[in-house]
Amino acid sequence: MSVTVRVPAKVNVQLAVGAARPDGFHDLANVFLAVGLYDEVTATPAGELTVTCEGPGAGQVPLDRTNLAARAAIALAARHGIEPDVHLHIAKDIPVAGGMAGGSADAAGALLACDALWGTDASREELLDICAELGSDVPFSLVGGAALGTGRGEQLRVLDVGGEFHWVFAVADGGLSTPAVYREFDRLNAHTDVPEPVASQRLLDALAKGDVDGLASLLPDSNGLQPAALSLFPELTDTLAAGRAAGALAALVSGSGPTTAFLTGDAESAHTVAEGLLASGTCRAARVAASPAPGATVVS
Ligand code: C5P
Repeated sequence: MSVTVRVPAKVNVQLAVGAARPDGFHDLANVFLAVGLYDEVTATPAGELTVTCEGPGAGQVPLDRTNLAARAAIALAARHGIEPDVHLHIAKDIPVAGGMAGGSADAAGALLACDALWGTDASREELLDICAELGSDVPFSLVGGAALGTGRGEQLRVLDVGGEFHWVFAVADGGLSTPAVYREFDRLNAHTDVPEPVASQRLLDALAKGDVDGLASLLPDSNGLQPAALSLFPELTDTLAAGRAAGALAALVSGSGPTTAFLTGDAESAHTVAEGLLASGTCRAARVAASPAPGATVVS
């Protein structure tokens, strides 16, 4: 018997970043929106903990116990006094090291799959607790939909979404390390009084109403990590311009990057923007996806 869980990627429609805290993390006002690009994690009984991975970028994913999916299985097993003897297979479709929470998705997927496989029957609170230990974005991967993340991003308040949003994601050649982008944020803001991060009420209203134009008008300045990502990966400026030229309503760096996100008016224009981005030669791949998407779900 095995259990397969499907988990969505995310885009941050707002990522307000505060000053570095004493623990090195940054307080955030992080508006997460789950998008319909998915990884699938399959848990199968095994003699010991093993991880395999297939799909684009699979070669960059560690297969040892540092893999976030493996760490999720270890954390759940430890709490229940059992051995994490499981084979985890990750079918990747979320860009690796792309700022779309692919690793976090795999952790949330592994946690839910192992819980079902082992019959540990963890409560939602316990699962969310383990997610928060594993990483700042992991609780949202479990929950999906849309949510405001505060603290380091792990304290979630579910948000209403009043319509569908159509996106294109341009996959860059290469990855960016999230800690490196936060370090660059600190360097760029070394002589600045960084304000407390607060969620934009206008942006939350636009989400709640399904107001695409309203959201589009706020996105260009919504990602506090964008200047740091562009500083480390200047070529992304060309990708952002190419997407706008191809008809996107708004363009931004997704989370810590280097994936770039383009909001479009409907599914058809998303395909047009994706074609324009590919033709521009400023990205490796262009993926179309709609939001909101459900959180981690057992599919078989
Ligand atoms: O929590 P997670 O493991 O995903 O974070 C990865 C890295 O991103 C952290 O080690 C830290 O450098 C940075 N980070 C941060 N502030 C946050 C979230 C992440 O500085 N709120």
